[in-house]
Amino acid sequence: MPVERTLSIIKPDATRRNLTGRINARFEAAGLRLVAQKRLSLTRAAAEQFYRVHAGRPFFAPLCAFMSSGPVVVQVLEGEDAIARNRAIMGATDPAKAEKGTIRADFAESIEANSAHGSDSPETAAQEIAFFFSALEIVG
Ligand code: CMP
Repeated sequence: MPVERTLSIIKPDATRRNLTGRINARFEAAGLRLVAQKRLSLTRAAAEQFYRVHAGRPFFAPLCAFMSSGPVVVQVLEGEDAIARNRAIMGATDPAKAEKGTIRADFAESIEANSAHGSDSPETAAQEIAFFFSALEIVG
């Protein structure tokens, strides 16, 4: 299996409830390494830019408002098959459909406030990592 990097975001609903450490423990227990991490507040414009692929979808405006409503923790996870592994740990986008024991099943409040984001392909991961981090900030 290839060693990959993926972009993860711990969303405002989770930082508000002080869940960063519990979520990170799940990544580490599953063999993913946190090779970069920072806590920041997204401006509305930055959220719109990050989620531009969803512009025009009915949930775009409320999603961008939510993502800029409080702190997020952006991070790079590294490990074998990291992109798919992270998505398995997170569970389905809609917490009502997420498997038991996943981050979204256990912590998410709604499909919008779903506690975590993870890149969905190697191309997206490269773009999303570069959105938040310079090469110097990623230490494997
Ligand atoms: P995320 O993985 O961050 O990618 C896009 C986000 O849009 C998604 O998680 C959800 O939080 C949010 N969203 C809100 N409504 C929907 C929806 N109906 N379908 C997909 N994503 C949605």
